[in-house]
Amino acid sequence: DAEEAQKPRAPVVTIMGHVDHGKTSLLDAIRKTNVVSGEAGGITQHIGAYQVTTPSGGKVTFIDTPGHAAFTAMRARGAKVTDIVVLVVAADDGVMPQTAEAINHAKAANVPIIVAINKIDKPAADPKRVQTDLLSHEIVVESMGGETLEVPVSALKGTNLDKLLETIHLQAEVLDLKANPDRSAEGIVIEAKLERGRGPVGTVLVQRGTLRVGDIVVAGTAWGRVRALIDDQGKNVDAAGPSFPVEVLGFDSAPEAGDQIAVVENEARAREITDYRIRKRRETLGSAGTP
Ligand code: GTP
Ligand code: NA
Ligand code: MG
Repeated sequence: DAEEAQKPRAPVVTIMGHVDHGKTSLLDAIRKTNVVSGEAGGITQHIGAYQVTTPSGGKVTFIDTPGHAAFTAMRARGAKVTDIVVLVVAADDGVMPQTAEAINHAKAANVPIIVAINKIDKPAADPKRVQTDLLSHEIVVESMGGETLEVPVSALKGTNLDKLLETIHLQAEVLDLKANPDRSAEGIVIEAKLERGRGPVGTVLVQRGTLRVGDIVVAGTAWGRVRALIDDQGKNVDAAGPSFPVEVLGFDSAPEAGDQIAVVENEARAREITDYRIRKRRETLGSAGTP
């Protein structure tokens, strides 16, 4: 893309951490702070990713990965999805094996970490211990004289959620994230399923360009003409730009999480690409079965 065509885009954030340290609770709590009252239905309309507005007016996109598996699967396919990892560490439990694993994932992907020290409402909370534990994983948080941003939070009580959002916004400004919205769309499928009455549905994170209703798309071995785009509040939208998560309806079959999605010029091209991929896949499966 030409330099002048690049426009600022929202950071894409993944929340990682040890089991039961409060990843889902934190995602839900952040989501609730951003749902306009009277729109409670927006909470239940869950698409695996959502965008919120920070107190200062910036946007942040959260991906609700079902744990580390999706992150790893996407990385294995060479897809870079996340700009920032929020590492959730329970203040009453400290750094645990999956915390260390998350740190390794983030470092391998060269993605900056923001530490959310969660459960600070608990009597047994010991944030100092978390900060010290992190040192042995080469994470030096600000209060220890380092550069890693940290925010003590309570997902349960809703403490410091605005501060966490502002910290993400701050980190994103340093990263200077940009994309060109004025080109044909490219993105990544973060979730896909077959739904009764709706057909194949893919949750897509647009990474470049703008995806529009009527576009012909290819994702892995699936293709289709976009019949509808639905945002994280369950509303139909005409278009989705960079860092915007949407449900895409109109695929001929379900794509897979981690598939790259791209707009192509016409149906013939879409069929050509997917036929080729299906043939290739059969060949691979066939040769794997040969003694
Ligand atoms: P997995 O997805 O199973 O790895 O867990 P998780 O990291 O998503 O944790 P989850 O949000 O399910 O929270 C685990 C437990 O901790 C639940 O019982 C939550 O209610 C509780 N919990 C989460 N955040 C807080 C918090 O800030 N304070 C307190 N006291 N409890 C919390
Ligand atoms: Na849990
Ligand atoms: Mg969870």
